[in-house]
Amino acid sequence: MIVYSVGLGPGDPELITVKAKRILEDVDVIVVPQSDQTGRSVAREIVLKYINEEKIMMYYFPMNNDREELKRRYYDLANKIKAMLESGKKVCYVTMGDPTIYSTSNYLTDRLLSIGVQVRHIPGISSINAASTMLSIPLCIKGENFGVYEMPSDVQRTIELIERHPTTVFMKVNKRLPVLIDAVRKVKPASAYLARRIGLDGQCIYDMLNGTPPPEAAYLSVAVIRRRKKWTENMTGHKI
Ligand SMILES: C[S@@+](CC[C@H](N)C(=O)[O-])C[C@H]1O[C@@H](n2cnc3c(N)ncnc32)[C@H](O)[C@@H]1O
Repeated sequence: MIVYSVGLGPGDPELITVKAKRILEDVDVIVVPQSDQTGRSVAREIVLKYINEEKIMMYYFPMNNDREELKRRYYDLANKIKAMLESGKKVCYVTMGDPTIYSTSNYLTDRLLSIGVQVRHIPGISSINAASTMLSIPLCIKGENFGVYEMPSDVQRTIELIERHPTTVFMKVNKRLPVLIDAVRKVKPASAYLARRIGLDGQCIYDMLNGTPPPEAAYLSVAVIRRRKKWTENMTGHKI
């Protein structure tokens, strides 16, 4: 009994892998978990570029933070998937970006494994990669490392994290954008951008060192902060 956990990439339907597309075509049921009953599902829209609606099974999670309720729902979905596999159906579930990065698929995978279902992951292009490549900012070059964090709530912590790596990525920026902008203006890195809704309608790039900040970032926003000026400068030993 194997179910596929498929990464759909950051939003542009052309940024799913050939393997992900093949599995979407091959399975009988594509489970699309969604946490908002009213909102559009970007994942569903990507799947629909390749597959007919009939194969899609939407599964809604409540928006509230009731952990017990969420736990029950994950078990419920895991049991439903197991039952479909037992009846001979081929099943996959999908997630935006990569399934192992800040993804609800991680919880579902955990429940499936606990009830004896094997999960095979199909990696997806993460919003981290989509942002850094769109901005042409290296995440890391030889001898460097980079950090990825959920956006902290306070400025001092944000400054510490920015100063920890040559490049720092913040995810889930949302309402904490003013904290980030404050930290960025104190650190004065070489570049600091917010990439919003990459590959989707409303995509925009915001330069946090120059310009007026929007009051808050969109839900789908990633910030990439690079302390060093040019990637070549590190290679020649110059410290910025
Ligand atoms: C629940 S996490 C999912 C991350 C996803 N698994 C990945 O690999 O990119 C949601 C966060 O991912 C980022 N994100 C996902 N898709 C994005 C996009 N198209 N544009 C900008 N940020 C995105 C945002 O930081 C958002 O708050």
